[in-house]
Amino acid sequence: MKIAQKTIKRLKSNYYEWVLVTGATSGIGRELALKFGEAGFKLIITGKRGKELEALSAQLFDEYNTESIPVQGDLSIIEDVNKLFSEVSHLNIGIAILNAGFGTSGKFRASNIEQEVNMLDLNCKAVLIMAHHFGF
Ligand SMILES: NC(=O)c1ccc[n+]([C@@H]2O[C@H](COP(=O)([O-])OP(=O)(O)OC[C@H]3O[C@@H](n4cnc5c(N)ncnc54)[C@H](OP(=O)(O)O)[C@@H]3O)[C@@H](O)[C@H]2O)c1
Repeated sequence: MKIAQKTIKRLKSNYYEWVLVTGATSGIGRELALKFGEAGFKLIITGKRGKELEALSAQLFDEYNTESIPVQGDLSIIEDVNKLFSEVSHLNIGIAILNAGFGTSGKFRASNIEQEVNMLDLNCKAVLIMAHHFGF
């Protein structure tokens, strides 16, 4: 599905040219990165898997002539969140899609508590910090 032309026009007139998509190496984030690339935005794409980020960056350029900056890192770790902030500090980011995350399932008492805490660090703490940083 393409983003409608009137939506692209509205986004471009209301937001800066750079779009950040966290968790762009697969799934929803990857698809959104491609859609925003197709619509003519520049992209910052993140994920833990460097090869997938590089492949997406190449695809964005080859298919849409879109400039993109891959930033590899584990966003459940505050040092990597801060690394992202410093690597993009010179860019005007108008849209931040804070998509990186994961979910667990099954019986809570049988779960791995370290993984549960990691999920909170990524899905909640990192999202809160990034929303505070990128919001305006
Ligand atoms: N699909 C659904 O039905 C559904 C339902 C409810 C909520 N959600 C949420 O929507 C988001 C996208 O879902 P999806 O189905 O597209 O998931 P997905 O295909 O598993 O993609 C998750 C993305 O998040 C990144 N990621 C995971 N852990 C990370 C970490 N510690 N640091 C940095 N990046 C990390 C992954 O990159 P790497 O693997 O390269 O790290 C990947 O790019 C997730 O937050 C998910 O929890 C999805």
